[in-house]
Amino acid sequence: MPAKIIDGRAVAASVRENCKHRVRLLEALSRPPGLAVIMVGDDPASAVYVRNKMRACDEVGIRSQRILYPDTVTEAEVIACIDALGRDDSVNGILVQLPLPKHFNLEKILGAINSEKDVDGFHLYNVGGLVIGNTVFPPCTPYGVMRLLEHEGIEVAGRNAVVVGASNIVGKPMALMLMRQEATVSVCHAKTRKLREYTEMADILVVAAGCPNLITGEMIKRGAVVIDVGINRLADGRLVGDCDFESVRSRASYITPVPGGVGPMTVTMLLVNTISSAERARQRLLQQSSEHAHFV
Ligand code: GUN
Repeated sequence: MPAKIIDGRAVAASVRENCKHRVRLLEALSRPPGLAVIMVGDDPASAVYVRNKMRACDEVGIRSQRILYPDTVTEAEVIACIDALGRDDSVNGILVQLPLPKHFNLEKILGAINSEKDVDGFHLYNVGGLVIGNTVFPPCTPYGVMRLLEHEGIEVAGRNAVVVGASNIVGKPMALMLMRQEATVSVCHAKTRKLREYTEMADILVVAAGCPNLITGEMIKRGAVVIDVGINRLADGRLVGDCDFESVRSRASYITPVPGGVGPMTVTMLLVNTISSAERARQRLLQQSSEHAHFV
């Protein structure tokens, strides 16, 4: 029997319904959550991603603002903006769209983000939290993958998980989250020899390599769960993942399609992180005022 296709759009829609309730509650108690997205330069793919993020915010009632800079902007100007947003109580999430132009020091920019508003989870403080299993902001794409696995009732503990791709945005945090859920995790990357020896072992295979048709049906174990994070635009305009969909589907038990699998979840988990950030900010405020009341 071919694999069940995991409908990321449907799962995302149900998570967004829950987001709407949480936003309404925050609005009734104080104000809606706010997200600021900084974009430098005019990379067309980034422009599409940013537009999708703003649209998703609108859909659930999060107030979003986009700050656009030409790629001639200085690092100091961007950092001054990040600092100001960090102090602005109406902003609960700050996101710098990547990639940045070459002359930027990425670590310096990400390090300038107030770690309590780091909804991408890329600040070193949050990366460290993820490593020790005390996550505050799980990075959105792997967070979305974990939600899909949970939604489908797929057991993670004790299973062999293989992650293909070792990026800071997807592969590394994905491996950490799977480890946290007690999977036995292998991470493959561009220098991995005999990739197939690893993929064949996987009960859960997450592919985030950015390479169309990298994984074919004969490379996977029968009954494996295959999560395709790749988004590749072919010369003929088609959008495809990293897996040869039909051959993988014929052997897997579950598979995510591209488009309509992980993609809708990534944006949705950004909404979740922004709302969680606003809820935590409100908790901090309440705690401060109760401590103040105690003191006076
Ligand atoms: N560029 C590609 N993916 C991402 C992401 O998850 N966050 C940000 N900020 N930029 C990206």
